[in-house]
Amino acid sequence: MLRIGVSGLGRAGLETARYLLEQQDIRLVCGFCSPESSKRNKDLGEILGSRDLGIPVISVGDISKLDILPQVVIDFSPPEGALVNAPVFFENKINLVLASTGFSELHLKKITNLALKHNRGIVIAPNITMGVNVLMLLSQIASDILSSYDIEIIEYHHNKKVDKPSGTAVKIANQLPGEPIIHAIRAGGIIGLHKVMLVGQNDKIEITHESFSRAAFAEGALKAAKWVNNKSGVFEMNNVLDLNKILNKYVKKDVTAV
Ligand SMILES: NC(=O)c1ccc[n+]([C@@H]2O[C@H](COP(=O)([O-])OP(=O)(O)OC[C@H]3O[C@@H](n4cnc5c(N)ncnc54)[C@H](OP(=O)(O)O)[C@@H]3O)[C@@H](O)[C@H]2O)c1
Repeated sequence: MLRIGVSGLGRAGLETARYLLEQQDIRLVCGFCSPESSKRNKDLGEILGSRDLGIPVISVGDISKLDILPQVVIDFSPPEGALVNAPVFFENKINLVLASTGFSELHLKKITNLALKHNRGIVIAPNITMGVNVLMLLSQIASDILSSYDIEIIEYHHNKKVDKPSGTAVKIANQLPGEPIIHAIRAGGIIGLHKVMLVGQNDKIEITHESFSRAAFAEGALKAAKWVNNKSGVFEMNNVLDLNKILNKYVKKDVTAV
């Protein structure tokens, strides 16, 4: 049974841990917190407000104390934490689903080079939700066809989200023709909404994805963790969801005139 760890037990990480505990076909074996965390050396059950689960929560510096090592870690820690923790995971032959966002290009390069050096598998997933990846694909298709349209991206998140605009909005913008403008709204408890507007002189298309709960992150993270187990290389959610294969299904061969 696949052994998984979760790093970064905050809003997204704890929701993911809760979701993983409900799954019958994997085993959540540990959580990772910051060295100064009040969660350090507690049982995950205590942190979740339930009975003890026998799932230790440690700082990565104590990884050698674990009786059972995870095969894959899902990381929802802030980028500063993820940068320090990733080398330790790779040295311990652990693959990584990197859901943390807000890295510089240089830092991402550092992490991916380390993964390759250690022959590990890593999914770089600033957009872990499956539906967001579908939104990306649909907006790419729409902008390729409607290349003269103005494109505006609007994203809404809760008021505690640090990065602005979101990593997902930036990624969407980079994938589309032209120079899409991004509007970022930070308010209240909004889990996450991304809207791509393609506006012409005579009509408009809007493609929207909205997460109703953080379980949407957990669902995508679990899919990525199962997929990257036993793989080596650097991947994205596109690879996990096999979007190229799905697209090929819709590409009809040219019909030869008779
Ligand atoms: N890819 C996606 O689709 C997606 C979705 C949601 C969130 N995210 C990203 O995930 C990250 C976390 O988001 P969030 O809203 O859950 O933030 P959050 O509530 O602030 O949680 C982050 C948690 O990380 C822990 N942490 C800090 N340093 C750490 C370290 N060195 N090692 C392990 N854990 C550490 C902190 O707790 P302790 O100090 O107690 O350990 C904190 O609870 C952000 O980068 C966010 O953008 C990505």
